[in-house]
Amino acid sequence: MDRQLHARLDELMRDPYPLYERARRAAGLTYVPELRAWLVARDADVRAVLRRPDVYSSANAVRGDTVPCQAALAVLADNGSGTGGRTRVVVTADGPAHRRLRAPITRGLGPARVAALAPYAAERAAALVDAFAGDGRAELMAAYATRLPGEVIGRLLGFDPADVPTVVRGVHSTERLLFRPLPEGEQVAAAHDIVALRRLLDGYVRDRYAAPRDDLCGEFVTSLGRDEGEDGDMGALTDARRAELVAHLNNFLIAGHLTTTALIGTALLHLLRHRDQWRLLCAEPERIPAAVEEAARYDTALQGFRRITTRAVTLAGTELPAGAELLVAFGAAGRDGARHPRPDAFDITRPATARHLAFGLGAHACPGAQLAREQVRLTLALFARRFPGLRLDDDRPPVTMRPTLIHRAPEALHVTWVRP
Ligand code: HEM
Repeated sequence: MDRQLHARLDELMRDPYPLYERARRAAGLTYVPELRAWLVARDADVRAVLRRPDVYSSANAVRGDTVPCQAALAVLADNGSGTGGRTRVVVTADGPAHRRLRAPITRGLGPARVAALAPYAAERAAALVDAFAGDGRAELMAAYATRLPGEVIGRLLGFDPADVPTVVRGVHSTERLLFRPLPEGEQVAAAHDIVALRRLLDGYVRDRYAAPRDDLCGEFVTSLGRDEGEDGDMGALTDARRAELVAHLNNFLIAGHLTTTALIGTALLHLLRHRDQWRLLCAEPERIPAAVEEAARYDTALQGFRRITTRAVTLAGTELPAGAELLVAFGAAGRDGARHPRPDAFDITRPATARHLAFGLGAHACPGAQLAREQVRLTLALFARRFPGLRLDDDRPPVTMRPTLIHRAPEALHVTWVRP
């Protein structure tokens, strides 16, 4: 993709809402050349797509915006873990293959495991806040939002806390390499981070294979490591199986970590931009769950994923051939006035009648939604209690959003408060 196109794409991604509005008003679907896709922006149309995975395949769900340079590809190919190459993961699989990959995730993220994780998440959140609480100012994306979800997902999988920085770096580098136009040197550095993460994940796969453990990584290995049809028997740890498990873990980390970081950042941003709402939240903390839903509706982390048609179909009056690419915009659906009255108002007192689509719907609906909600909820409770005077730092330039539709978040969130 050329630089000019990338510049236009960046602009669009930093504020996609005007485009969404035009697309919702237009007759039929709108083709957006920068996205190389038909934009599905109305709530009803997004639901129609998500309910028909047989017609709208997920095969291209996370297609990147850039192709890495040869030097970066060489690093990725020669990664020493024997796990290079392209493997289908839960988010890009369809039908029975998808159900097989999804089963251990939904089992592993059940209410009991999320509840068991909550005290650890609360303890780590408090420790992160303690580290900067006396300073009177902080940059919350670096000091808090990028850190808590990494620690929580590491614990969920059963990883050593010392490995979490490698995980966080590798996941961020994956996103940058696939979605940002980086200079060649940075691409190669990102590729090395990705390889370090793959090696780490490969080590965990081998360990759990040798000695099963009762953590989510163990659950993935015992569930996906079985020979199909052999009812209960673990198969040999072949290269193909290692590749699948490493790709599965990698995908799980990307889906479950950066998204939560992003929603923590945008929830705090919008509450602080709407001071009346922040004051209300501090005075009436029982409104926190509603505030989490409103933040997700108003400016969700995962703005859109792709789909590709498996056959010719008509959607919203637009005739699409087989193989047409769509961007299914969860974020645009959240601002659809046909479902959410006063859609552009950020209002935590909104009645919880209209369900938003920030966590998707149907076969691929987010299995981590409760864990994500829990982390944003405990963050708002903690910040409302510790820093009721929290405000955006006026001495800093206005907040800008990262140019991405998959982890929409502030680039930085500088805040101040009166020290206790
Ligand atoms: C604020 C945070 C989050 C948001 C906004 C979010 C949003 C979403 C959405 C919209 C989808 C559906 C994608 C599609 O239809 O193609 C999805 C899928 C998924 N999410 Fe989340 N998610 C979040 C947090 C999490 C967490 C914490 C985890 C796990 C720990 C997680 C794991 C997954 C996985 C594995 C999928 C793929 C499911 C499948 O394809 O069947 N997510 N997420």
